[in-house]
Amino acid sequence: MSAARKIRLVVLISGRGSNLQAILDQAASGELPVEVAAVISNRPGVQGLERARQAGVPALELDHQEFADRPAFEAALIELMDRYQPNLVILAGFMRVLTPGFTEHYRGRLLNIHPSLLPKFCGLHTHERALAAGETEHGASIHFVTAELDGGPVIVQAKVPVLPGDDPDTLAARVLEQEHRLYPLAIRWFAEGRLRLAGEQVLFDDQPLVKPLRMTPC
Ligand code: GAR
Repeated sequence: MSAARKIRLVVLISGRGSNLQAILDQAASGELPVEVAAVISNRPGVQGLERARQAGVPALELDHQEFADRPAFEAALIELMDRYQPNLVILAGFMRVLTPGFTEHYRGRLLNIHPSLLPKFCGLHTHERALAAGETEHGASIHFVTAELDGGPVIVQAKVPVLPGDDPDTLAARVLEQEHRLYPLAIRWFAEGRLRLAGEQVLFDDQPLVKPLRMTPC
């Protein structure tokens, strides 16, 4: 393990939590210099919360349906998250659109994983859309979150081939396998102080990234 200090991580989820699991596993093994301080889901009872509990991490529910509007939900979410004083907040399958008030509050310490090679296929149903568009390559991206949906500066991407006979499920599974390597990699860089957001620009080792980094296939 590197000598990087442990950073405090809060993870926001809405469902299955397989990306969360990859992070919990690497945190537990010491490969990733993070303390997962809390996992918060906007949907009650999802599998990711159980994964957090199994790892001994506080697993919290904040049901967005119990709030009058998006700003009210986000104000409560910020209040809850900030009790854990996160150095970094990650969206790991968190399926809520966030307002600029929220993204500004966590600017420079808020990452998202998106299942496409951004800027291609923002939004939902990325695997179906990549197949319909006849793409030969697809993948996943990690980006800093800014006010624009799936539009913040991209840090690193993982590519996979689209194979003959693929359907959305086979393609999603191939991408997901890479997601589980990609998020820990970006979190590690952040924890090591190698990654920063300056304005709209990603700095990696203090150098502006002219294009996203590419994770090497294993
Ligand atoms: C992942 O494929 C992630 O990229 C995607 O949701 C899935 C969550 O899976 N995120 C988005 O689509 C965000 N727009 P998981 O709950 O098993 O980690």
